[in-house]
Amino acid sequence: MTALPLRRIAFEFDERTPFQWNRRNPHFGLLGNTVSFFAQPFERYMVAAMREARPRIADPAIREEAEAFLRQEAQHARIHRLHVEALIAQYPGLQQTLDAMQASYDALHASQPLEFHLAYAANIEATFAPLFGTWLEHPAELFDNGEPRVAALFLWHFVEEIEHRASAFRVYNAVVPSRLYRLRQLPRVMRHVREVGEILAAGFNAHVPLAERLVDAGGPRVAEAFASIPARARQRMNLRLLLSQWPYHDPERERVPPIATRWLEAYDAGGDAASWYAPPAS
Ligand SMILES: [Fe+2]
Ligand SMILES: [Fe+2]
Repeated sequence: MTALPLRRIAFEFDERTPFQWNRRNPHFGLLGNTVSFFAQPFERYMVAAMREARPRIADPAIREEAEAFLRQEAQHARIHRLHVEALIAQYPGLQQTLDAMQASYDALHASQPLEFHLAYAANIEATFAPLFGTWLEHPAELFDNGEPRVAALFLWHFVEEIEHRASAFRVYNAVVPSRLYRLRQLPRVMRHVREVGEILAAGFNAHVPLAERLVDAGGPRVAEAFASIPARARQRMNLRLLLSQWPYHDPERERVPPIATRWLEAYDAGGDAASWYAPPAS
């Protein structure tokens, strides 16, 4: 059982929060915004699935972990909503985009069984240790060059994703007897993520002027976003992503990047995580 504390951090976003928060690496800036817009609908979908799963989890330790995991995810959704609301206040058309994403998750929730939702959660959450872990290993290229408040939001979320990296996997295994079912559902999971990603990219392009966005949201932004990190690190990330989908791969064994450890220590020592990049003037 992993201890998963609920951290309440005073993040603040407003109409001065720039849509493009990373002008030095605008593709990564858009990728971050993609995480923010996905956070609410995806986390709401996951929370609903985990609640339905609860009565079917026999092991009290896993039930307890599921609760703590859900509390962290609910907090992620809450804080990302503040970020997204600040962007919608500047570009109101983005509300339609968010609504369309939510509708897609609602339709998925209504049309598939609980086993599928748990597979979806476990598959996606398993990608986060390789993905966010690699990003966190290259803070200079991806975070340090961004708007401090927005960069600090992603830092917090990604650290907690690494912290609870095995929770969705454990819940899936506690409820669904077949490990292979999860692998079999992977194409459908990826198709859904891609569809929702396309709704969002079209929304960014339609509602945010290019002068603010800097790059085409529908373009090859994932490859571009990581062009500044070494090719070896990207290859390793892709390999780890593949392995993460293997039904017997336990995400708990994934490496924890040093910055995540430093972040957790700084938080425990009373540091202000919202000001990681901009310590308040004393
Ligand atoms: Fe999350
Ligand atoms: Fe998560």
